[in-house]
Amino acid sequence: MSKYVVKKTPGDTSWFLHDRFGMFIHWGLYSMPARHEWCKSRDVSARNNYDKYFKYFDPDMYDPKQWARDAKNAGMKYAVFTTKHHEGFCMFDSKYTDYKCTNTPAGRDLLREFVDAFRAEGLRIGFYYSLIDWHHPDFVIDQIHPLRDEPNVKELNEKRDMRRYAQYMRDQVTELLTNYGKIDVLFLDLSYRYQEGKPYPYNLGKMKDDWEAEKLIETVRSLQPDILINNRTQVLQDIWTPEQFQPTQWVKHKETGELVPWESCQTFSGSWGYYRDENTWKSPQMMIEMLINMVSLGGNLIMNVGPNSRGCFDDRARAALQVYADWMKYNSRSIYGCTMADPELLAACPDGCRMTQSQDGKRLYLHFMVYPFRRIPLPGLKGKVDYAQFLHDGSELIFKEDVSVTIMEGTTWETYDAVLELPVQKPNVLVPVVELILK
Ligand code: GLC
Repeated sequence: MSKYVVKKTPGDTSWFLHDRFGMFIHWGLYSMPARHEWCKSRDVSARNNYDKYFKYFDPDMYDPKQWARDAKNAGMKYAVFTTKHHEGFCMFDSKYTDYKCTNTPAGRDLLREFVDAFRAEGLRIGFYYSLIDWHHPDFVIDQIHPLRDEPNVKELNEKRDMRRYAQYMRDQVTELLTNYGKIDVLFLDLSYRYQEGKPYPYNLGKMKDDWEAEKLIETVRSLQPDILINNRTQVLQDIWTPEQFQPTQWVKHKETGELVPWESCQTFSGSWGYYRDENTWKSPQMMIEMLINMVSLGGNLIMNVGPNSRGCFDDRARAALQVYADWMKYNSRSIYGCTMADPELLAACPDGCRMTQSQDGKRLYLHFMVYPFRRIPLPGLKGKVDYAQFLHDGSELIFKEDVSVTIMEGTTWETYDAVLELPVQKPNVLVPVVELILK
């Protein structure tokens, strides 16, 4: 068994620590301006056109069954869908607001179709629900709100009551966790600090008391006790969520130092929502390495797709998903049910390589981000390896012990207690994986 003890949390993390790889889907009215999901806050022309986006939102090509097939094919085991993002628009038929997809030309509960399609493909279901709401009349205007620069902002805020808004959130989360069956993940987003000394309302943030976070989580647990909740309300729950960067160690609990369940969320490009003209798309190599890096440190990866306003994954997103599909088809055994390699095995990890190990401890995986020449020393693995093979084609690799590297006149250059012989030519795999079956 893996030697790492992961902190026990309120939800059921057993499936999460096995499945490792998910799909994030950011979809809302912001797919129409197609220039970032924060455009309502950051882009005056988008802000002024938001009523038009509501008036014309009509994803006539929406095919969640195809999305689910694409996700499954990519090797993703769960999917988290934005039920409501910061814009406040609801992608589900809520009885607490008119600002919802059923009142647009879409005319139907888009979330319902997502849940049905992804569940039918065997993926677990997650809901993203924004704590932030730039449409709700009780959400106090603050440092990031679209109305922050209105001359009468103080007067506007006098009529706003965050307690009513916190109740609205509890009511909507109750709808989400009652009307759509078993939900496996709730991704709440996000708290942000007050900024003392800044001019009003730029000094206003929103923290756990603004959300009435304890009451919100109590509501969630009363409806779906095993659900996994992230920590962005500031009340620690089940999932730590480093975002848009590559952790270099297993994420720990700040106070206790315990290893915690964690998931890095990343975008294919520089935006969560569909952004037509944003072109910082990650390379295939980078995307595969991201997944391996997270699992090699005991974490999960959730990769985001931003569908366009027609309801499609665009060709760039589909090409990116195919990169995962091609690699996971042969190599998923080094991801699912795997975690960080035991400390004493990590010492053998060659340069340019990442290790993962099956949770049962029986199989060790070497992922060659940099493909080495001919043979690699595996110090400390003498007497521990029963068999070695490439994962992509199941071909045997020769594992040797007590090897001396000599040349014609018999000069011994180096001796190794354990080495693995590799073909000189790198296999036609983005990141080749070697499976070592341990004794
Ligand atoms: C950040 C972004 C938000 C996105 C979230 C995903 O909070 O601001 O738009 O939904 O990350 O984790």
